[in-house]
Amino acid sequence: MIESESSSFEAIALAPMAVLPAYQRQGIGGQLVSAGLEECRNLGHEIVVVLGHPTYYPRFGFVPAKPKGISCEFEVPDEAFMVLELREGALAGRGGIVKFQPEFKETI
Ligand SMILES: CC(C)(COP(=O)(O)OP(=O)(O)OC[C@H]1O[C@@H](n2cnc3c(N)ncnc32)[C@H](O)[C@@H]1OP(=O)(O)O)[C@@H](O)C(=O)NCCC(=O)NCCS
Repeated sequence: MIESESSSFEAIALAPMAVLPAYQRQGIGGQLVSAGLEECRNLGHEIVVVLGHPTYYPRFGFVPAKPKGISCEFEVPDEAFMVLELREGALAGRGGIVKFQPEFKETI
């Protein structure tokens, strides 16, 4: 959920993701991200956040979250916390703090 004093709306987090080092840089991670985002779009999700490499995720359309008014409930480097609109304009006029599910917090 992305929560602010005035609103609360749903978003989905891309995580955790990893490819075994021996298999990295063969396009596997990219295919996982693209397929996952497509599935999310098909399911009607509109907003995806990711905490990850700032040079990797922009290729999928992710942009820094902070300028969009989205922050993370954890202390994270600004450039590593990114957001993607699966529906154009989904974030227009909205903002807040991303609150993760308890299951996600157990993975970090
Ligand atoms: C990030 C990760 C999942 C990418 O998987 P992958 O199968 O190697 O990805 P792809 O082959 O589709 O893409 C490779 C690209 O990722 C980039 N990349 C891989 N690791 C990177 C890193 N740590 N920082 C920046 N870019 C990285 C490579 O530079 C490469 O870019 P290029 O296509 O311009 O050469 C993999 O590196 C990984 O498991 N890393 C460790 C776990 C992790 O950090 N997960 C992300 C946390 S959400």
